[in-house]
Amino acid sequence: MIILKTPAEIEIMAQASRVVAEVLQVVERAVSPGISTEELDQIAEKEIRARGAIPAFKGYRNYPKTLCVSVNEQVVHGIPSKRKLKEGDIVGLDLGAIVGGFYGDSAVTVAVGRVSEDVLRLIKVTEQALYLGIEQAVVGNRISDISHAVQRHVESAGYSVVTEFVGHGIGRQLHEEPQVPNYGKPGQGPRLQSGMVLAIEPMVNMGGSAVRILDDRWTAVTVDGSLSAHFEHTIAVQPNGPAKILSWRPEAVACS
Ligand code: MF3
Ligand code: CO
Repeated sequence: MIILKTPAEIEIMAQASRVVAEVLQVVERAVSPGISTEELDQIAEKEIRARGAIPAFKGYRNYPKTLCVSVNEQVVHGIPSKRKLKEGDIVGLDLGAIVGGFYGDSAVTVAVGRVSEDVLRLIKVTEQALYLGIEQAVVGNRISDISHAVQRHVESAGYSVVTEFVGHGIGRQLHEEPQVPNYGKPGQGPRLQSGMVLAIEPMVNMGGSAVRILDDRWTAVTVDGSLSAHFEHTIAVQPNGPAKILSWRPEAVACS
């Protein structure tokens, strides 16, 4: 069952998502060679609580931390540790917060110091795929119109989408119906309706699409060891016109 949200509920979800966006920006600024992924997690937790919000991932299915930090060939759900970032790494930062009983969820991938042009292109294409997906999140379309837009952009750039993990409805639960895959034919799945709130989250591998889970039971990595990028926004489908991006980061560079 897809739970539609009232405008008042969407306003609360916007608050949760705004906390996530602000804190992601603080964490993003702290990313630099030498910082450990655990230190990034500590910053995230402190900044979330300072805003009166609750870390959404900590304790979710026994996940131990506030932030997911996925380095290089790690796709998603990397667990913060003593590992230090180094120049040339790329790092996915995925964060959720709860405000007034509602969740917000967003992710970005950033470079640590200088990285090569082709690595920057992977990051850029993944972010573009997210915004192309969001463009499809309008009344009259179906879920797979989002999926198709993401897949088309990613594959025409020569990369592959991860199929084992999907975007999702979000509300009083982190994961609600419907699932939002990053692949598929257009015109399939539930019709988009005003009041649907979705977390759209393309995961893009430079090489093959296959992933596996490490022995820590969380960290997803590419099987071929190729780099992977991940972006996510929480968005609300509007009665008319484009979806509202609830986790919009004021400093985020809209991509072209
Ligand atoms: N953004 C991810 C998701 O929507 C984060 C979940 S991490 C978890 O699934 F630890 F909370 F599972
Ligand atoms: Co999510």
